[in-house]
Amino acid sequence: MTLRTTPTPGAPGLRLLITGANGQVGWNLERTLAPLGEVIALTRDQLDLADLDAVAQTVRDTGAKIVVNAAAYTAVDKAESEPDLAHAINALAPARMAAELVKIGGTLIHYSTDYVFDGAKTGAYVEDDPTGPLGVYGGTKLEGEQGIIATGCAHVILRTSWVYDVRGKNFLRTVLRLAKDRDELRMVGDQFGAPTWARTIAEATAAIAVQILRQPGEPDCAARGLFHLTSSGQTSWAGFAKAILEDYEDLVDWPAETGEFGGELKARRVVEITTDEYPTPAKRPRNSMLSNSKIQAAFGITMPEWRGQLRLAMQDAIR
Ligand SMILES: NC(=O)c1ccc[n+]([C@@H]2O[C@H](COP(=O)([O-])OP(=O)(O)OC[C@H]3O[C@@H](n4cnc5c(N)ncnc54)[C@H](OP(=O)(O)O)[C@@H]3O)[C@@H](O)[C@H]2O)c1
Repeated sequence: MTLRTTPTPGAPGLRLLITGANGQVGWNLERTLAPLGEVIALTRDQLDLADLDAVAQTVRDTGAKIVVNAAAYTAVDKAESEPDLAHAINALAPARMAAELVKIGGTLIHYSTDYVFDGAKTGAYVEDDPTGPLGVYGGTKLEGEQGIIATGCAHVILRTSWVYDVRGKNFLRTVLRLAKDRDELRMVGDQFGAPTWARTIAEATAAIAVQILRQPGEPDCAARGLFHLTSSGQTSWAGFAKAILEDYEDLVDWPAETGEFGGELKARRVVEITTDEYPTPAKRPRNSMLSNSKIQAAFGITMPEWRGQLRLAMQDAIR
């Protein structure tokens, strides 16, 4: 197996392992963690999380001080018809990583989701609110959290929401693709959450990793546990789509620029529809709002507002 590694002379012997290196968060992590040590970033081809023995062996062989698990089965609707595979990747594999890390005294940083909640709460969810996943994906992600915690491994579990980037599979790129094809976009207006840029998640993760590495030996309990990590503010899917189109219209100089982040949009308006008008195999929570207060207190991380972050992400892709 050929490993993608970033050697760092400044931190001899310190290794960080990233799984899911071609995903939205994983791709950004390979860049934001680079200054901290030798980064081993593995794609699905290099480490398949469905192979639990390979997961355990890789954690052992790399001897990583920190493992950041950015790999996941994220196809929310498809998970309804592939529950066993989703369970293996989202629940069993993270627990197996954690069990190996206990033996070598490492820390697992892992991502979870707003979909562990049923969305019935009024106001933002806090970490110890009762869970109630509405589908297989959310259920398997919840089991992943519980499996990690049960091993006693030092861990930071970050529940995030509505992740997007200018690469990878996500809502932003779907909106732009559809807007070049259709006269209007019909988007759900009664589910609320915080779109969160994968780069910001990766940057916050690096800040957390720095703090973990500064505490060798006995882990500081305040800096371990389950946290929410999303952009500030809130919108609906329809609001998110409108903002994407607004930024695109502002930033793209068409027809001079072509390609995915270039060319003219056909759709000029977003029509709000209800969840009932857009049935999907997996139900989604109406309220995906997560409070960031705990991570702010523990790590001093203040997550920026989603609207400004979207603008920066679009600027990255366009100019
Ligand atoms: N996306 C969201 O809206 C969202 C929302 C809340 C929480 N999260 C959580 O945030 C974390 C990062 O998500 P993301 O948005 O970066 O997801 P993503 O872009 O879908 O990336 C997931 C990565 O996992 C890889 N993967 C899938 N099955 C695998 C397997 N069997 N073995 C190894 N790798 C496998 C995928 O590989 P391929 O590239 O080969 O497909 C992909 O690179 C995940 O834990 C996710 O549950 C995401």
